Amino acid sequence: MSAEFEGQIGIVTGAARGLGFATAELMAQRGAKVILVDIDAAGVEKAAASLQNAGHAAQAVALDLSNEDEHPRLHAAIQGFGAGRVDVLVNNAGGWRYSTSREISMSEWEWIFKTNVTSTFLTTRAVMDIMVKQKSGRIVNVASGAAHKPSTIMPHYAAAKASVISLTRSFAAELAPSQVLVNAVSPGPVNTEALQQAGVAAERAKLVPLGRVGEPTDIAEVILFLGSTRNRFVVGQSIVVNGGMFML
Ligand SMILES: NC(=O)c1ccc[n+]([C@@H]2O[C@H](COP(=O)([O-])OP(=O)(O)OC[C@H]3O[C@@H](n4cnc5c(N)ncnc54)[C@H](O)[C@@H]3O)[C@@H](O)[C@H]2O)c1
Repeated sequence: MSAEFEGQIGIVTGAARGLGFATAELMAQRGAKVILVDIDAAGVEKAAASLQNAGHAAQAVALDLSNEDEHPRLHAAIQGFGAGRVDVLVNNAGGWRYSTSREISMSEWEWIFKTNVTSTFLTTRAVMDIMVKQKSGRIVNVASGAAHKPSTIMPHYAAAKASVISLTRSFAAELAPSQVLVNAVSPGPVNTEALQQAGVAAERAKLVPLGRVGEPTDIAEVILFLGSTRNRFVVGQSIVVNGGMFML
């Protein structure tokens, strides 16, 4: 188990902090060489350096994943650091704002869709042909519990994450014949900077039957299962990881 990603190349987006960093760290601890991608250049350099200092193989790539013109930097890292291989892609980069339907500006609407949906689409497209050629690979998209429920406090984010689930199914159907397994996780509230800054962690914890919000590793463990070759037959699903906050 500890070396289950030995010899594998993983890419984790939005890896400068939070859930993305926790996922990259666990993957590296289990043997993968990890490419950490984030729009926050200083943050992702620091995150990769902390993995390197712990003796892991990690490379930082700074780019805005929603801008295809910046993707050559990712291709260069795959060709150099990854020697042209990608075994696992975790599309985790994302973000949200609390705004009601009347409050949402067009620029906020577009930012939500670019950050959550366009990034997932473009990054998947960037690596899928490599995985198809390998005839192996795992892609895990990070959606949200919000995708499965109506939301009056962030309807744009709920719609964007529902689009991530739709893309998960479409890419899963397209890539499964090439033995590339695509799935999603839908986290409930997770104890990251983003949740802490929103100041809602204590209030959200009351809605969770387990009595607490999730820790990043609670979610990362499920991402890593879906991203590993232990997952042999889960395809096109969104696994809700929310401490029982709601049950599908
Ligand atoms: N924290 C929660 O409660 C929670 C709940 C459900 C789903 N999620 C989802 O989990 C994922 C991670 O959440 P988090 O709480 O760790 O968030 P976070 O804000 O702490 O981290 C997200 C990272 O993504 C990066 N990023 C954003 N846009 C980018 C872009 N265009 N290109 C490259 N990098 C970009 C940010 O710089 C940041 O480092 C997100 O997709 C989020 O929507 C979080």
